[in-house]
Amino acid sequence: MRRLLRGRLALIVLLLAAGGSLLGSSHTKGGSSAPAAPSGKWKTAGDFLRAHWAYPLPPMGEAPASYQGEERSLLPEACGKCHEEQYRQWRTSLHAKAVGPGVYGQLVDLWRSDPAQARGCNECHAPLAEQQKRLPAGEGASAAWRPNPSHLPALEMAGLACAACHVRGWRVHGPPKRETPEGRGGATLSGKHGGAERTPFFEGAEFCMKCHQHEGSGPAGKPIQNTFREWRESLWGEEGVPCQSCHMPRREHLWRGIHDKDMAQGAVGVEVEVGRAAPGVAAARIVLTNTGAGHHFPTYITPSVDVVAELEDEAGKAIPGTRQAAVIGRRLSEDFAREVSDTRIPAQQSFVMDYRQARPAGAARLRVRVRVKPDHFYHGFFEAYLKGGGLSPQARKLIEEARDNAAKSAFDIYDERFALP
Ligand code: HEC
Ligand code: HEC
Ligand code: HEC
Ligand code: HEC
Ligand code: HEC
Repeated sequence: MRRLLRGRLALIVLLLAAGGSLLGSSHTKGGSSAPAAPSGKWKTAGDFLRAHWAYPLPPMGEAPASYQGEERSLLPEACGKCHEEQYRQWRTSLHAKAVGPGVYGQLVDLWRSDPAQARGCNECHAPLAEQQKRLPAGEGASAAWRPNPSHLPALEMAGLACAACHVRGWRVHGPPKRETPEGRGGATLSGKHGGAERTPFFEGAEFCMKCHQHEGSGPAGKPIQNTFREWRESLWGEEGVPCQSCHMPRREHLWRGIHDKDMAQGAVGVEVEVGRAAPGVAAARIVLTNTGAGHHFPTYITPSVDVVAELEDEAGKAIPGTRQAAVIGRRLSEDFAREVSDTRIPAQQSFVMDYRQARPAGAARLRVRVRVKPDHFYHGFFEAYLKGGGLSPQARKLIEEARDNAAKSAFDIYDERFALP
């Protein structure tokens, strides 16, 4: 089992590791294959991304002599001394929890047994050089891994920290100044931390694809993470409404997604039409339309959304045997090689469930519920991982915590009752 899980992890990383060439393809029109411009003046999103997210990122080294006090730290708390609002918001986000118990519970052992794979995970979960416990001495698979002299444990645990998105070689990068054209694409060379390198590529959907889009193909011709392409092919993509519009409105640093009830509720409209079927039959058509997500609902293989309909009596008691459920989600085979089903709702499209049921005496109402399980896959994964054995006591404790968290994250986004005609 453990071997199987490890094999699966290796497979995931393999699929992820190939990222990059999509940038050079159709979306980045005119994107050249030349290396990134050294000056930090990037012509295309592809140029910017290849430079900004070139993995592994080089260590930053000593802070410039002109940096004072908090400016000399890469820790989010330090950025937060001056950028209070971003810090307050980021702290509540899943980006700040990207090295939580479910991830670190695996990494803590992987750093010993397979450091190359551990660093592979951190490509998305904690990408800065200063977040890596160990580094290879030399090139290739046979290179020995030694402790990383620039490793900062507190920064590692901060997950997707401010500096991971914003700082390269101690230079702070960010979007153009708000609502003023003068900052566009330019740099500010004065002010704190020597000003900021401002680029409109922070405002584009491509900024997010490094970690939210797998390269190449996948089961049934679709990569396991396909969010950027789903977006690009939707009305939102066509209209140029980027990820940031919905996940960072007014430049907020919250990144709410399917773990957030309001966000999930805003993704779909639910319509229920209770029909007049033949006598003695209860019938209804339940339609969910993806009006609010800029990609499939849900976009990943990990959540599950269950639509459950059942009959109740006058007292509101469920009538046994009348419950029917449909699942919205994408399921893959154990080895991730084959797609078992894909019932996710593409942007602007609908999912239909037809309920038909012999109507028992005493049936008064139809209850329709939509339940979101954001961690459906991970719950089972953590269970299996714990059964695998060979975990260090620290890993076991963390994975147990992650499993318990995953078991608690489900919620309803819809729960209504309809009188039967
Ligand atoms: C001592 C206070 C201070 C600290 C610490 C600090 N900043 Fe700044 N930051 C500023 C100021 C002031 C500006 C405006 C600079 C300018 O426009 O020239 C700025 C600008 C920025 C910008 C450009 C966008 C904007 O709001 O103008 C970004 C992005 C940014 N900082 C990120 C960070 C990050 C990430 C850290 C931590 C690694 C950090 N800052 C640490 C004070 C600080
Ligand atoms: C996942 C990447 C990511 C992380 C992590 C992140 N930011 Fe940002 N930040 C962005 C993006 C993208 C924008 C521009 C958003 C836009 O233009 O819609 C931005 C914008 C900003 C701005 C400009 C805000 C404005 O109103 O003009 C500041 C300042 C900033 N970030 C600071 C921080 C600080 C401080 C942290 C940590 C507490 C942080 N960021 C964490 C991606 C990130
Ligand atoms: C290409 C970027 C990428 C890489 C590489 C990656 N992940 Fe993730 N990971 C994500 C994203 C995005 C999510 C959130 C969406 C989801 O649930 O799939 C996530 C979610 C998770 C979660 C569930 C959330 C949590 O914090 O418990 C775990 C556990 C996890 N990853 C572990 C790993 C491990 C272990 C590796 C290396 C074997 C790895 N990831 C490699 C992007 C990545
Ligand atoms: C360096 C990699 C990286 C980048 C860049 C990045 N993310 Fe993430 N994102 C992650 C990881 C990893 C997670 C999952 C963290 C976890 O739960 O462990 C995540 C989680 C999320 C979630 C929460 C999903 C949920 O399950 O609710 C949203 C929303 C999100 N990211 C949006 C964005 C947007 C929008 C951008 C671009 C502005 C972006 N991300 C850029 C790595 C990244
Ligand atoms: C029109 C608004 C909108 C746009 C544009 C948008 N999203 Fe979302 N996103 C949502 C909503 C609403 C949810 C919650 C429902 C869901 O999970 O589909 C969500 C959920 C997510 C999740 C949670 C995981 C999951 O399985 O659904 C991630 C990750 C994410 N978005 C990333 C992105 C990225 C990356 C982009 C840009 C390529 C993007 N989103 C564009 C609205 C949007």
